[in-house]
Amino acid sequence: MTAVCVVGAGAREHALAVALARTASVVVSPGNAGMTALAALADPASPASRVRCTPEPPEAIAADLFVIGPEGPLVDGLADRLRAQEKLVFGPGSDGARVEGSKAWMKALLVDAGVATAAHGSFADEAPALAFLRTLPPPYVVKTDGLAAGKGVLVTDSLAEAADDVRAKLSGAAFGAAGRRVVIEEGLSGDELSVIAVCDGTRAQPLAAAQDFKRAGDGDAGPNTGGMGAFSPVPGAGDLVDRVMDQAVLPTLAALRRRGIDYRGVLYAGIMLTSDGPKVLEFNVRFGDPEAQVLLPRWQGDVTAALAAAAGGRLTDSPRFSDQAAVCVVLAAHGYPVSPRAGDAITGLEQTGDGVQVYAAGVGPGLVTSGGRVLSVTALGDDLQEARARAYAGAAHIRWDGRQMRTDIAARAAQGMKVGK
Ligand code: AMP
Ligand code: GLY
Repeated sequence: MTAVCVVGAGAREHALAVALARTASVVVSPGNAGMTALAALADPASPASRVRCTPEPPEAIAADLFVIGPEGPLVDGLADRLRAQEKLVFGPGSDGARVEGSKAWMKALLVDAGVATAAHGSFADEAPALAFLRTLPPPYVVKTDGLAAGKGVLVTDSLAEAADDVRAKLSGAAFGAAGRRVVIEEGLSGDELSVIAVCDGTRAQPLAAAQDFKRAGDGDAGPNTGGMGAFSPVPGAGDLVDRVMDQAVLPTLAALRRRGIDYRGVLYAGIMLTSDGPKVLEFNVRFGDPEAQVLLPRWQGDVTAALAAAAGGRLTDSPRFSDQAAVCVVLAAHGYPVSPRAGDAITGLEQTGDGVQVYAAGVGPGLVTSGGRVLSVTALGDDLQEARARAYAGAAHIRWDGRQMRTDIAARAAQGMKVGK
């Protein structure tokens, strides 16, 4: 059996591990205490029961395939170090990971590739940044150039707030070195869509469309988070995925190739469906979190073989997705995203019911909260309505003090509302 090492510690990596465990023996480095506890609770016949975690670093692990989950290690060059040891790796090297590691670099790449994206300027100094900001109409969009765990973007109608944010970022007060350059963008409006493609250096194949919920509160109120829930499929997204592949993902992959970058891994296009057509808000270099938690359970066939083929530069078959719908509800710690509280005892994990899969992220030893996003509760169903009902019924059993959850994940889509309408 193929041995796979999944690198990371979040619910996305847990979802990857469970999907890969259908056809491989999987170890997660480092994983988290929740993954181990949930494997012990799972049906012993299920792939979920076979997930193991290890404190060993990936470089010390013998595996046939490495799948790197988060952007941080990719930007830091983990894929390069493993490839230098002749390992088969799914995930770009640090050259390709700049697509996510620097928004200014990514925007320049998109312009070069002719991909539609918000008009922008990128600045390291305050005076020109503020002057550019003043030329734009609201809403104002200020982005940290470097990595900021999904929290580096401010969208506001207040010029004063945007200007304060520019100062806080450029001074290093907000995000340290990652913020010392900012990208200021034209504000776009429309529905959002995540198009996630698997790339083998030259070819790219899309997964099913997904949508996530970035704001902390119901009705898209509150600050941006890493993502509070997701669903797939997305009603009305069928043709849009092909369009985004042709107009955004493939031209970007070609532009990377022209720069001598052999990009093997995920290219994830965050799209806004504007009245002028789809525009790229961002590219990420890894699976979305929580999009992975709804895509992987729907992915049919051998996920291990598909990721190994991409890593080996020989993609052939397009990924196939089940007709079932999936909905994921994220349960977050008290205080997330500003100051998540650690140490709250988690109960009810054994009661979530059939058809519900719980993926663990910020869970520490002794089953206590240890991070912002704590658990992802995913359910499959014959349609979004059924999947949604099951996910929320499962989530209702899981408790801790101050647990936060949005109550409107997939609500509009479950009523048949299409995107881009
Ligand atoms: P990003 O990390 O660049 O995807 O931005 C996070 C979120 O901020 C996106 O999902 C959008 O909801 C919002 N956003 C980003 N860029 C823009 C923009 N140019 N106009 C309006 N909203 C944006
Ligand atoms: N769900 C948003 C992200 O993974 O960046």
